[in-house]
Amino acid sequence: MVNSNAAPQLRIVTNQQELFREAANEFAAIARQSVADRGKFTVALSGGSTPRGMNALLAQDASLPWDRSYFFFGDERHAPPTDAESNYRMAAETLLSKIHARPENVFRIHTEEQNAEIAADSYEQTLRAFFRVQPGQFPRFDLILLGMGPDGHTASLFPGSKALAERNRWVVANWVEKFQTHRVTLTYPVLNQAACVMFVVSGQDKADALRDVLESQGDGPPAKYVRPVNGSLVWLVDQAAAGQLKNAGKNNA
Ligand code: 6PG
Repeated sequence: MVNSNAAPQLRIVTNQQELFREAANEFAAIARQSVADRGKFTVALSGGSTPRGMNALLAQDASLPWDRSYFFFGDERHAPPTDAESNYRMAAETLLSKIHARPENVFRIHTEEQNAEIAADSYEQTLRAFFRVQPGQFPRFDLILLGMGPDGHTASLFPGSKALAERNRWVVANWVEKFQTHRVTLTYPVLNQAACVMFVVSGQDKADALRDVLESQGDGPPAKYVRPVNGSLVWLVDQAAAGQLKNAGKNNA
């Protein structure tokens, strides 16, 4: 279990299978503790392919408090939920359908909406209705899961994109030049309000970005700026992703 006021934790594991096991164990510990403390567990799932392995392990654990768990998404492609690109579809196939998550406990981003801005606004309203925070405050997820691309993007906060500067809205439609498409994404203020942010990163293609995030003195890629203001930050990475780190030995908890 991660200590909520500790410094960022870097955990390096040998391989991808160990990564998924560690990630599933951490997810489970936070879920159990959140339900024990507050009667519910709120988690924003991440997209892409890395979460598949962790989700598969979690899907086998019927002992988790799934009925008290509320599932959200850190970002979504601008595509319908049936699309192969959809982060919701990946989560539904690998986890939500397997644990028979209650439909009323799953809050997907409605990116079937042609206008991505409308989809983003609608999701922000969904979050506001659920979290009911005071004006000017941000929602505090128990856990936000994040991945990282080879360019150091996280969620759909891509290098050079407009959403990097957003400090007020919770959810925005972000134009991603390299894909020539919008994505819908949580913004830094929401990510950095989480009780725990856990990055799960695998593979040599992420090694340069991980070094830039964790060891560069100056500016770095978008993932560098995810730093919970009052919560824990865990970087769970495999040795392949950690291959360019110079200080790995010192950091490795
Ligand atoms: C997405 C994710 C994105 C992802 C990284 C890593 O919608 O793709 O939210 O931020 O986590 O691109 O993706 P992989 O796990 O597929 O390497």
